[in-house]
Amino acid sequence: MPGTCVIGLQWGDEAKGKLVDILTEDHDIVVRYAGGANAGHTVVSAGQTWKLSIIPSGILRPAVDCVIAGGVVLDPAKVIDEMDGLEARGVAMRGRLRISDRAHVVFPWHLAEDRLLDGSLSGGGTIGTTGRGIGPCYRDKVGRSLAIRLGDLYRPACRARVEHVATFKNRLFTAWPAGAPEPLDPAAIHATYSAYAERLRPYVTDTTAFLLDAVEQGRRVLFEGAQGALLDIDHGTFPYVTSSNSSGVGVASGSGVPGRWVDRVIGVLKAYSTRVGGGPMPTEQDNATGVHIRERGREYGTVTKRPRRCGWFDAVAARYSARLSGVDELAVMLLDVLGGLDEIRICSAYEIDGQRTGRFPSQIEDLERAVPVYETLPGWRQELDAVRSEGDLPINARRYVDRISELIGRPVTVVSIGPDRAQTILRDPETSGRPWQPQQPVNA
Ligand code: IMP
Repeated sequence: MPGTCVIGLQWGDEAKGKLVDILTEDHDIVVRYAGGANAGHTVVSAGQTWKLSIIPSGILRPAVDCVIAGGVVLDPAKVIDEMDGLEARGVAMRGRLRISDRAHVVFPWHLAEDRLLDGSLSGGGTIGTTGRGIGPCYRDKVGRSLAIRLGDLYRPACRARVEHVATFKNRLFTAWPAGAPEPLDPAAIHATYSAYAERLRPYVTDTTAFLLDAVEQGRRVLFEGAQGALLDIDHGTFPYVTSSNSSGVGVASGSGVPGRWVDRVIGVLKAYSTRVGGGPMPTEQDNATGVHIRERGREYGTVTKRPRRCGWFDAVAARYSARLSGVDELAVMLLDVLGGLDEIRICSAYEIDGQRTGRFPSQIEDLERAVPVYETLPGWRQELDAVRSEGDLPINARRYVDRISELIGRPVTVVSIGPDRAQTILRDPETSGRPWQPQQPVNA
């Protein structure tokens, strides 16, 4: 079977880009299938750093085809910006990059709505979105009557459609109590988006058909998840989530390729936890430990530059995400960041209203009351920069990785100890920790 997928198992930013870059060598096609310009992937390749948002990082390898599939919400200005940046550095995309004509388009009204509506959760909470118009664009997609897909931009009826939607949105904005944007100018928006459409024309196609042909021909496809499973719209920490299925369940719906074509699912975890934006995070450390992690891990958002909230590894959350995403094996990233701590904690259960549980709550109010139950493991003082094999890792670092594997019940096959490709330890699934095993009882 030709498909591999890489899924973040926390709240995003798990360093999936590095892993995808390594795996790309063994694949013919890399697919981005959900989310949009809210994601940020950093890849260090041949000594150069690349920051990508929507275009799959496979684009950096000339032999690889890349697909932006129909489940993505596409801001054409951002894609074109990214293409210009890549072309200026000598990366050729013609014939290699395909963008789905089914992808829904992010318009200026979506950016305005994102700004106006974040902070309007009932009860007064703030999601803390990336402000890229992601939620409003997905809302219009599901609502259908105000949606415009990339393929629509090439039809004569597009002008009238933009006029219809912009007029409707202008009416909504005038009813807004404060902070509404200047009225939208449909003719100007249509002209701008028509120009974008022309620039993108050589790349726009039916990517579902392309991918179905590819898997049937045995081409090896790598599905690159964006964000993390805990931000999944249906299965994450709702309402503090993104608007797509960012866990493993989204691969088929976002790409159009049925799950039967995927035979390897790799769950990516940081050796600790981070979160950007609002919402509960039981193991958050708003103290010196949090600062240690943030500074050593350079935990600032790739897209928004916001400082990330940092804390201990949460095995309750990670076990849930791994099960939800059908994960076969784990990649533990940024292990080096935990160096220099005397002790390291892992949350192995929650206590909610005095009851101990290993179950990740489905209701946000329960997660807000969850008190982490920690195990404490000895830390290590050595820097890991120069480590190149498992045997070189300090024994306490190895024990820490093994404990993560044990608590989640999946083997850890990749350990990353720095941004460079050479700073990656690949382990044999047969010998690296726990093979498939039954999950711990739900209330253990
Ligand atoms: P949105 O996706 O911009 O609507 O933001 C919704 C929530 O998801 C916010 O808490 C964001 O900080 C978070 N989020 C979205 N994309 C990412 C990402 O790539 N990494 C980490 N958090 C993200």
